[in-house]
Amino acid sequence: MRAVEAFRETFGAEPQGVWRAPGRVNLIGEHTDYNDGLVLPFAVPWGVTAAVSPREDGVVRLRSLQAGGTPTFESLEDAEGWARYVAGVLWALREAGHPVRGVDLVVDGDVPRGAGLASSAALEVAVGTALNELYGLGLSKMEVALAARRAENGFVGVPCGILDQAASALAEEGKALFMDCRSLGTRNIPFDLAGHGLRLLIVDTGVRHDLTDERYARRRQDCENAAKRLGVASLRDVTDLAGALGRLSGDERRRTQHVVTENHRVEALIGLLRAGAVREIGALLNASHLSLRDQFEVSCPELDVAVEASVRGGARGARMTGGGFGGSAIALVPDERVQSVRESVTGAYAERGWAAPEIYPASPSAGARRLA
Ligand code: GLA
Repeated sequence: MRAVEAFRETFGAEPQGVWRAPGRVNLIGEHTDYNDGLVLPFAVPWGVTAAVSPREDGVVRLRSLQAGGTPTFESLEDAEGWARYVAGVLWALREAGHPVRGVDLVVDGDVPRGAGLASSAALEVAVGTALNELYGLGLSKMEVALAARRAENGFVGVPCGILDQAASALAEEGKALFMDCRSLGTRNIPFDLAGHGLRLLIVDTGVRHDLTDERYARRRQDCENAAKRLGVASLRDVTDLAGALGRLSGDERRRTQHVVTENHRVEALIGLLRAGAVREIGALLNASHLSLRDQFEVSCPELDVAVEASVRGGARGARMTGGGFGGSAIALVPDERVQSVRESVTGAYAERGWAAPEIYPASPSAGARRLA
């Protein structure tokens, strides 16, 4: 394993263990997590492998096979760039009172960065899972995910919800992870693409964004404002949508319309999966995209074209996935239509003079685990 070889070479010793955590795509349930709502992600085959040994002192020595240098620090505040995600997890665990000291750590990641596939969550959860075991903290997978989210929110400074970290920590191969972001209850639901002659294609628009982007924070704020105006704890609690919309206007009205209907779409999609009607979920994916485009306003032309061209090429449904403003779309495609969807999307991009998007299949993969 490359991470282990690099660990030996860098630190002159064997790592005490090797862990891996994946990125994710969200099948449906977008911008619902921070509204106490419902989400349905699954883990992708790409992730972060971390070879790790704990240290008795408080020193942190890091190396990434994808970035140069060996960042070394004792004060977590000295961490920069990607090392902040690692430092953030140490910070979150220490803040929670866990006796976590230093660490020697080599990471090897293959989640396309900025593609909206949660590469940072994969890094945090790999580190959190490793520290949990190495220091015998006895945390559940969800508690590791929560620590990883605190790292992003409180240390890195990204106001994300729990979707990405929970998916990375709790997903299972061949299944999608249904999660209620209020109760944090989860259920792994069989999601058998191959058995239904389907493939899930990721279309990476190549448009890069960053969740420190103020547009994400503004959407959260719109939702909080709407909930306050409606006198509910969060938009999850809106039961009479028509009544609520009558009391709102502008952005708050549109955001509410999206969040409430998106929660219904998650439930509907789960109903279809339970019924074994995987081929029927496409309409819900399309509806989710339109709602994100028109009501939540987090799409962009490259995502819209990817979705429209996928459907024209024969996809059963398609939508943007993740935070939006770039990143990736997903398309549910019958095996025999994969080529025509590729051609349709590539052609639509070429027509507009845009660089060809990366298009590749992803199947539901395992969540965080120990490899050695
Ligand atoms: C990003 C965030 C998640 C979630 C999605 C939108 O991926 O990290 O917490 O809010 O956007 O569903």
